[in-house]
Formats: sequence, C-alpha cells, structure tokens
Amino acid sequence: MAKVITDPNTLVRDEIAKLPNFKVGVRYEEFTENNPELDLIRLGSNENPYGPSPRVLDAITNNLDKIHLYPDNTCSDLAREFASLLNVKVSQLVFDCGAESIMLSLMNVCLRPGDKVLSLSPTFPVLNIWAAAAGATVIGVPHEDDLSFSAERFCLSIDKSIRMIYLCMPNNPTGSYFSESELSLIIESADPGTLFVLDEAYVEFSGNKLDYPDAIALLNEAGQPFISLRTMSKAYALAGMRVGYGICYHEDFATLLKRANTVFNVGVLTLKAAVAALSDTVHLDNYLEAIYSERTRLEDEIARMGLRAFKSGGNFICLSLPSFEKALKIEQEMQQTGIFIKGQRGRPITPSDFEGVLRITIGKPAENNQMLKVLKTLV
Ligand SMILES: Cc1ncc(COP(=O)(O)O)c(C=O)c1O
Repeated sequence: MAKVITDPNTLVRDEIAKLPNFKVGVRYEEFTENNPELDLIRLGSNENPYGPSPRVLDAITNNLDKIHLYPDNTCSDLAREFASLLNVKVSQLVFDCGAESIMLSLMNVCLRPGDKVLSLSPTFPVLNIWAAAAGATVIGVPHEDDLSFSAERFCLSIDKSIRMIYLCMPNNPTGSYFSESELSLIIESADPGTLFVLDEAYVEFSGNKLDYPDAIALLNEAGQPFISLRTMSKAYALAGMRVGYGICYHEDFATLLKRANTVFNVGVLTLKAAVAALSDTVHLDNYLEAIYSERTRLEDEIARMGLRAFKSGGNFICLSLPSFEKALKIEQEMQQTGIFIKGQRGRPITPSDFEGVLRITIGKPAENNQMLKVLKTLV
C-alpha cells in the first residue's frame, strides 16, 4: 500500500501556511566563485564595511577555550555596560541573537489574531510577515510626494483598535525619521494602552542630525508603554555575531518578554565580542564620522544625477523610483557588475502596482565611487 504523506500545511497554524516562503539571502561566496573576475561590493545589507574594533578580535580569540560552556543567560556584563551608557536599569533590558529575534518574540507575545499594527510604508519588511504569523494586520501609512512622512497623516489612522505602533527610526529602507514635534504629536494621539515599538537599529547614525528626537525620553514623559529595539549588527559591526537588545519602558515588561523566550540565546563569544566592541568608542566614532561625510557626498552626487532620495539618518541612502520593476532592474544590473544593493516595493500606486525604492548601503569611499559610476550608466 502506498504510504500517505501527511500534508505539512495541516500541521501548522493557518496563518503560517499562508505566509510566503522564507527568503534565502544572497550567497556571496557562491557569487564570488561563479564570478571570479568581479570585485564584490556588498551594499545590500547595511553592514559595516570596516569591520569591528580590534578589541573584538582579541576578545574572541582569548575566549575560544570557553565555547563548550553555556553562556551567562542574563548577559550581565553587557547589560551593565549598556545600562550605564543609556542611563536605564539593567532590568529594563532584554538581549537576543539579533534585534530581529526580539521583534519576532515581541510579535508572538503581544499580538493576537485580529489585532492591528500601525506603521509606515515602506518599512522593515519582516514586520508584515511576523504580524501576519500572529494573525494581526499591518496598516502602512505611505510617504508624501516630497518623500517625507507626515505625522498628521499618520495620526489620522490612529484609533483605539490599534494595538501596536511600529516606528522604525531611522526607517529601513528610506532612512527617514520623525522630528521631536512630529513624534510628540503621534504619542499624544495614541491610546494610552498602545505599545510603541521603536525600531532604532540605525539610531547611532542619526548622531549628527540635530532634529533626531530622543524618542525614549518623549515616551517616558508621556507615560506611554514602549520598547526600543537596538542592534550591534550595524554601528558596532557585529552582524555575524548576532546580538540585539531592547530597552523596555518598565522592568516587568522585560520580565514578561523573557518568560516566553529561549533560555540561552546569546553565545559565549558573542557576549565577549559585544562588551569589547562597546568599550572602543574611538572605533565607533571613526565609523560614524565616515558615514556622516560619505552620506552628504552621496546625497549631493545623487541629486546631481537628477535622482530623488529620501532624507536619511541611517548608514544607507534610499532612492525613490517610479516603479518597483525599475528598482529591481537597476538592482539586477548592478549585481552583474558585482555590486549588491536592494530594490524594494515603495508606495502603492494601485493595489497591485508600486513605486520602487533602491536602498544603498554607504560603503567605503572607493566602493561608493564604483557604485556611483555604475549607477550613472543605469539611470
Ligand atoms: C530596521 C531593522 N531592524 C532590525 C534589524 C535586525 O537587526 P539584527 O541584525 O540585530 O537582527 C535590521 C537588520 O537589517 C533592521 O534593518
């Protein structure tokens, strides 16, 4: 008798069965093997091209003899350092293997089927996937014609039915952010019980933007519940080590998030690397300075090409294009020269047609020059 194979879709919740398949990332090593004549330039994932502080490499090599042991699952050394840097209590902090893991558990823990999440459009795409996995719906407020996001328009979508407000600041992929007065307007308009999820993965790069708000202070002042998600993947160049953290408005919220999480989620070497990275403020500042000057240069060059870019507070710039297809075409043509950037759907034009955005990580000056040279030939 033929063996009957159980349909795997019947084994998972309906919400999961309806999700699109997991998107496999670029296999850079494979690309280099297949295209040995091309110099690979990775400007598609907002990584730090300079790499971490030499102290990180020392910390890793000096602790290789500990990898057979479980890590400190309270991340106490790292938590102490961050608590003093951010002027918060250790108990308000949560850690995980990347900010994305904290975001995923947050969605699982907080959202119920039928809940609504209010956000910007476009924003960090996994928000839609993880909210859908929890049975929730995301309402994305689109940007304006001048490539700004309007706080007034955002507030028009706020009502009591919104359970979570997800604000990525600076926003991935556009780099935009709300000023203090704009964010205050949103906080004042929100229901007191609405959880603000501030995704501040790129917050360090807004350091020279005088109008970037202290979002945590504003939310604290208003007594609004929040979590700010941060990462060591970007400014601290630890993307491959996987460590992110969350700053919770109250220690009891942090405790609840930990209840439903794995016990050992940040590895021994990652913890050592993270503490070492945090200690090297000169290394961090050098990278931030490089971003500030290259960001201005790239924005000027792009304007000179007659292209439209969002105002970015991140380690990337983002072009606005008339269609998603155009963004994908440029992404693919760039890739044929060894340069990886990221095309994404932008603002909806009709339910099935979208504007396009092209997110380009700010690399080293020579990488940026090469990218500009190729971009000029494609637009
Ligand atoms: C907006 C945003 N949030 C969170 C993350 C996840 O960061 P991590 O590497 O810490 O998981 C990213 C990564 O690209 C991001 O762009």
